[in-house]
Amino acid sequence: MTTADPADLLALAADTAREAGAVAADGQAGIGVLDTKSSPTDVVTAMDRAVEELIRKRLLAARPGDAVLGEEGGAAAGESAVRWIVDPIDGTVNYLYGREDWAVSIAAEADGEVVAGVVAVPARGDVYTAVLGGGAFCNGEPIAAAPAVPLDLALVATGFGYSSERRAHQAEVLRQVLPRVRDIRRGGAAAVDLCGVARGRCNAYYERGLNPWDWAAASLIAQEAGARVGGLNGAPAGPDLFIAAPGDLFGELHDLLEPLGADTDG
Ligand code: IPD
Ligand code: CA
Ligand code: CA
Ligand code: CA
Repeated sequence: MTTADPADLLALAADTAREAGAVAADGQAGIGVLDTKSSPTDVVTAMDRAVEELIRKRLLAARPGDAVLGEEGGAAAGESAVRWIVDPIDGTVNYLYGREDWAVSIAAEADGEVVAGVVAVPARGDVYTAVLGGGAFCNGEPIAAAPAVPLDLALVATGFGYSSERRAHQAEVLRQVLPRVRDIRRGGAAAVDLCGVARGRCNAYYERGLNPWDWAAASLIAQEAGARVGGLNGAPAGPDLFIAAPGDLFGELHDLLEPLGADTDG
């Protein structure tokens, strides 16, 4: 039994993501690096923190008993069955460089299961939404993943972590993936990549080293759009490896990545 209607959670998440996205878009020009985290390439801007604070404030004002997990603010416990999972700006490096592929991502989990998700991409005017079992939408219009294609005809999106050790291994995996696919895209925002799978702008996506805030909302959107989301050998998608692709393409990409050690750091 969940304690909240997923449609209500979605409405709150969507209003909040729109407001947060507008604030971030207004602050993009002239933004600089405020701090770094795990490595010198792992940057944080003032807007990452300000937007997450705004999102937490709005969500908890509407639903004071809920828990929140956010990239910048960490975990806050609650007493309800609902937990919000927030990436205030997914694609911070794109944001820093004035590029368009960055997103505000908000997911609502009820009793440990993601039941609603919003990914707002303000610079493109796109708001992706999904409720568990209710399909996926962009700006209110239904979206669907492209039909599965053979791996050698697949446009495959991927991303890289922030540590040089992990990147060295990811480059080795990529060296072996690139000759086997139509082409590779590195868009710079995992949530936007997954929404790309959800609307057929690429065929598949894989990455190692993601965190729940990167995927929580967009994973539901990709699944509701018809993509399969999972990890290695039947494991759920997660930090070890995240694969999203429709139909038989999932298995083909999985079977390419598995022997390459795409789920190990090197
Ligand atoms: C990053 C982006 C990037 C992905 C990294 C993520 P952030 O999130 O989604 O595309 O490759 O793994 O950490 O730090 O910009 O929120
Ligand atoms: Ca992120
Ligand atoms: Ca982020
Ligand atoms: Ca970050």
